[in-house]
Amino acid sequence: MKKMLIGLHLGNGYGSSPGAWRFSGVNPQSYTSYDARVQQAQAAERGKFQFIFLPDGPGAIMADIESEAPNFNLDVMMTLAAVARETEYIGLVATGSTTFNEPFNLARQYKALDIMSHGRAGWNAITSSGNDVAANYGKIIPTSAERYGRAHESIQLIQALWGSWGKDAWIHDQKTGYFADKDQIVPINLQGKFVGSRGPLYIPPSEQGQPVIFHAGGSPNAHELAGRFANVVIGAAFTIEDARAQRNAFRESAERHGRNPDEIKYIAGLMTSIAGNRREGLDRRIILTQHLFPQRVSYLQQMLGIPLNDKDLDSPLSQTLLNAARPSPYDPRSSHALKIAKEGWSLRDIIAHGVIDYHPVIAGPGIEPADHMQRWFEAGAADGFWISPDVNFDGIDAFVNEVVPILQQRGLFHQDYEGKTLRENLGIPDQYGVDPRV
Ligand SMILES: Cc1cc2nc3c(=O)[nH]c(=O)nc-3n(C[C@H](O)[C@H](O)[C@H](O)COP(=O)(O)O)c2cc1C
Repeated sequence: MKKMLIGLHLGNGYGSSPGAWRFSGVNPQSYTSYDARVQQAQAAERGKFQFIFLPDGPGAIMADIESEAPNFNLDVMMTLAAVARETEYIGLVATGSTTFNEPFNLARQYKALDIMSHGRAGWNAITSSGNDVAANYGKIIPTSAERYGRAHESIQLIQALWGSWGKDAWIHDQKTGYFADKDQIVPINLQGKFVGSRGPLYIPPSEQGQPVIFHAGGSPNAHELAGRFANVVIGAAFTIEDARAQRNAFRESAERHGRNPDEIKYIAGLMTSIAGNRREGLDRRIILTQHLFPQRVSYLQQMLGIPLNDKDLDSPLSQTLLNAARPSPYDPRSSHALKIAKEGWSLRDIIAHGVIDYHPVIAGPGIEPADHMQRWFEAGAADGFWISPDVNFDGIDAFVNEVVPILQQRGLFHQDYEGKTLRENLGIPDQYGVDPRV
């Protein structure tokens, strides 16, 4: 039976909730603690997660720095290098921008991480968006066509650099003095419209050959890029129907590029607040996010098309309001928000359900995320999930202790790692040498 994949969103280290840095028990200085990052990765490895995932801008936006931690990790490659030394099996996936990096730099950094981790590295190749990120590089954001044009060239070039040493090129025989087989090390000599490199890279293959390509994005350009190069897509979807459509779009793109669609895994997002029961889960989320409730109430009005007042947080919505409510066609979360409102929760509890978050939110006991994941997986909506705990400090352990065993009992998640490399644990082939399509 096919099993689901699970990744951990490590984020800035505190957790996905903006209030996580102040939560009880959390060390407020853990933003800069590599020891804390290592412990969190070890917790995920105890739960047999296939990978940890670090998004990146590159660089974080500090819109609310007076009250909130920056949303990204200090430096994704430094963090994963620290984690690589203290873990054995879990995959290490960092976001790297093709728009704001030179391919040769990306090629050697990710390959070095792949060597250091004995074949556990993954590169989330994204093009970056937003002028606030571009400003860090003294630039404005290029058009989508330019960003994706450069991304196609960059990934092709980087994979060629990674493959510039054949599988057995590194001889290192002390007796004969034969260090490497020059015939198996090829220059690249690629020059495109946006990027180029002579090569070869000076780093031999890792235990999995070369790092795994991930992608995150939803536009037709993203489908095209991922269909050609990616083995894993980090997705964002609020409904089974939407996730299934996204997954199919990536699978179809892979087929158009002559690949087996099963080589591309679609990973849906899920945010968790695990607690003894629904009430405790909601109370936890209220502590973590209530400073945002006034602005979320005003947004909920637009989602439901009815007037709401943030002074009335204690009451459920009246029957008259519920009858008048119309889910907004512009926000895919609206129908779910209305469903929760109709269950009779107070306005505060409706928001605490996470109806206005970046991914589906589950607040409650471990069986609830397990049920959600099973439903989506069996409906063909996802090959796996990336989990964003509200607070990493206790939320990773809660998932590992309370959700993972249920998924394992149901035969939906592996009991142990299949191997030591990321490719083995994702069930995708090793990659050596230069792609014949280049
Ligand atoms: C789930 C998900 C995760 C993403 N993670 C990142 C990220 O870590 N860094 C980044 O710059 N962009 C990230 N993006 C943004 C995409 O790379 C892409 O730029 C964005 O969706 C805009 O689409 P387009 O560039 O294809 O037009 C993410 C998108 C999604 C859907």
